[in-house]
Amino acid sequence: MDRIRIVGGNSLQGTIPISGAKNAALPLMIASLLTPKTLTLENVPRLADVSLLVRILGNHGVDYSVDGKRVGDTQMAGNTIHLSAADIVDTTAPYDLVSKMRASFWVIAPLLARTGKATVSLPGGCAIGTRPVDLLLMVLKALGAKVEIDSGYVIAEAGRGLRGGEIEFPKVTVGGTHTALMAACLAEGTTLVRGAACEPEVVDLAACLTKMGARIRGAGTPTIEIEGVTSLGPARHAVLPDRIEAGTYACAVAMTGGDVVLEGARPELMQTGLDLLAKAGAQVSSTNSGVRVTRNGAGILPVDVETAPFPGFPTDLQAQFMALMTRAAGRSRITETIFENRFMHVQELARLGAQISLEGDTAIVEGVARLRGAPVMATDLRASVSLVIAALAAEGETIVNRVYHLDRGFERLEQKLADCGATVERLAGS
Ligand code: EPU
Repeated sequence: MDRIRIVGGNSLQGTIPISGAKNAALPLMIASLLTPKTLTLENVPRLADVSLLVRILGNHGVDYSVDGKRVGDTQMAGNTIHLSAADIVDTTAPYDLVSKMRASFWVIAPLLARTGKATVSLPGGCAIGTRPVDLLLMVLKALGAKVEIDSGYVIAEAGRGLRGGEIEFPKVTVGGTHTALMAACLAEGTTLVRGAACEPEVVDLAACLTKMGARIRGAGTPTIEIEGVTSLGPARHAVLPDRIEAGTYACAVAMTGGDVVLEGARPELMQTGLDLLAKAGAQVSSTNSGVRVTRNGAGILPVDVETAPFPGFPTDLQAQFMALMTRAAGRSRITETIFENRFMHVQELARLGAQISLEGDTAIVEGVARLRGAPVMATDLRASVSLVIAALAAEGETIVNRVYHLDRGFERLEQKLADCGATVERLAGS
């Protein structure tokens, strides 16, 4: 297994190109199941999760191709991919594939909407909590599907097609909202969704579905209306930039000091995070090409944070912000409200010298003057990258194990950091 070696202490200077968003690319790719025509996606990040989803979609009959390099493409340019589900050949998503990536459970909605049936393995727990799918199943039932659970599989049927319905989410769920959008756009009649997630990735999926011919109003607000159509057609859509990747590098610059332009980042997708970084002592500004983050001279100030659905502070940046707070001049409180068990990075950050205690859903971080490199590992991708951020500011060498977590969600992480002056390299596993 590959590892990443980091020697801390360098400030970051330069430009980091921001890739397409993993959490937008995955549902967009899944939406290809809704049409027999070709869905072309641009700016698709090169990530292990994307490759795995290509395999999963292939199992259902989706043909996949990727454009070769074009004149003027840089190494960092996203891929343009074509997905064609002319015929759905298999409506079962097996355990061995779904268990590797939770988001693949979302195939249930387009399979059901297009073919009237879907058998999808329950995804099971994961490192950040139990993560049930009850609200996703609620959506399918509200649209008239018969849903049963048998031997670890969800079996959903709608022999005469899905019908529009009313859905009211008791809590904000991104996956539930994606499911509602994909299921309702081919249902007969109109669907009203209340309590919908407003995340930019939901808006991106709705925009792409609209290009395919879906009739959707209100995406990006808590109330979405979807008028069903009988079929969807081809479309071409560019994946939006990854606000979590951008926020992660912004935390890294705030941590190490320096001056970096996050090329392609869209500040309006990450305003809460940028405001908190400014409070912590970084200077943040919008430029023509993205977002510029600098921290020169001054230290890091402690800032309290609570995660919340968009436009609040994202849970997917909680670990990275905690890494930053480990070096703040004082105490900060970081509260996780989305997932019940998303603090695995705490113990590993402690190996680098961080002082963090847990009180229920809140981590209390006492900033320390120095972190020291150490071997570390983590159990999910955001936790892993928080260790990278801490390591960039730690004295000496840190080895981050289980790099496959990083490869799931961060494209060319070591290269992007090394290009800005960090001492970081990948050690090939034996
Ligand atoms: N929930 C339920 N029942 C459900 C669905 C969700 O109780 O049927 C709960 C979850 O357990 C959680 C909360 O609702 O407590 C929110 O979960 P949500 O459904 O919004 O999460 P998700 O759609 O499974 C996506 C991202 C996550 C991100 C969350 C929250 C993708 C592929 N995943 O997950 O990203 O943390 O939204 O913003 O889009 C990551 O990229 O590292 C990651 C975990």
